[in-house]
Amino acid sequence: MIATTQQIKETGATFTPILLANYLSKKLLSYLKPNGQRINVLDPACGEGALLASISNQLFAKEFDFNLIGYDSNEDYLDIATKALNGTANVSLKKADFLESVHIKSQQTSLFDELSSAQTINNTIDLIIANPPYVRTQILGAEKAQALAKKFNLKGRVDLYYPFLIAMTHALKEGGLLGVITSNRYLFTKSGNSVRNFLFSNYDILEVIDLGDTKLFDAAVLPAIFIGRKKKMAQNNTARFLKIYEELNGYKGTLIKKENVFEILNTSEGGYFTDGTKRYKKSRGVIRFNKTKEHNWTMLSEKEAQWVSTIESNAKELVGDSFKVRVGIKTTADKVFISESWNEQQEDKPEATLLRDLISQENIKSWRVCNKNS
Ligand SMILES: C[S@@+](CC[C@H](N)C(=O)[O-])C[C@H]1O[C@@H](n2cnc3c(N)ncnc32)[C@H](O)[C@@H]1O
Repeated sequence: MIATTQQIKETGATFTPILLANYLSKKLLSYLKPNGQRINVLDPACGEGALLASISNQLFAKEFDFNLIGYDSNEDYLDIATKALNGTANVSLKKADFLESVHIKSQQTSLFDELSSAQTINNTIDLIIANPPYVRTQILGAEKAQALAKKFNLKGRVDLYYPFLIAMTHALKEGGLLGVITSNRYLFTKSGNSVRNFLFSNYDILEVIDLGDTKLFDAAVLPAIFIGRKKKMAQNNTARFLKIYEELNGYKGTLIKKENVFEILNTSEGGYFTDGTKRYKKSRGVIRFNKTKEHNWTMLSEKEAQWVSTIESNAKELVGDSFKVRVGIKTTADKVFISESWNEQQEDKPEATLLRDLISQENIKSWRVCNKNS
């Protein structure tokens, strides 16, 4: 079944393509520590079953004993998932709202307390693989958004993946693994600080992979993968990050050639790459968690961190000392805002006096040389 644009908007149904599903399930399994017992695997919003099919193939290849559990609120998608998983043993697919299937303690007690109720899925799952719906408050509708905010004790704008992250955490056993694809917004935004704080407090964070603008699938947001192990007590985290974005800043050095984005992701080196069509910049390193109120996560490679400290130590003053720094326009819908024939356009282009060079880490030196007399 092909979902209509309206359906996709309302239910957040953008299915995971197979290569990305395989990349995530392989990563997750590299962290799995089997204890000889049957592994309970859950996708709480399984759609047509792409993630369940991928993880079950890999668990099967490793000869693990496992149960597959899938929830989805849409019957048509579940029918397709049932066919996709036909022949796999121990599969249970349920048509249900996952957010109502998890028991959350009343607000009088701490929201994130452990719960063990025999009637719910709470504390029963060893491994969750998920790409929960991305639906923003405006589309959810005020009533639904308020009900979710109340149940999950959320403040501000509620995107559907926030309550999913909380509900999935309740479903996991202690020591269970979460591998989830969400929008990357929570990594950088002020409104994402409650999500960062929640993940930091509830997980040993293993890896964060910011897939940037690589357009690996047709989601309306830039995706990121979070991999963590549910923990009981807050400890210090040493988590790796990896981020990959299209290189649009005029890097002039050598590009490493790879077949596609997954080959770039899988190679151990960072740097500048091309798949023959586009150019990419990949960085990796260790996340620095800031434990102040903002819960910022800094994801800079050593080289990038050095560059920031060079700028800071050489600058008499930073722009942020005198001005409030804000993102002006940042779009994930280039097709809507930037015409494909931009380079050929003559008269319709804004006047040259209105356009400014993009100054970035990659071209700041050459920009200074070119503009030293201006
Ligand atoms: C982004 S899709 C992902 C599907 C699948 N996991 C994949 O990766 O291809 C999100 C799915 O969540 C389902 N969904 C939306 N709200 C839900 C809810 N409250 N409970 C369970 N499923 C839900 C949608 O029907 C859709 O199939």
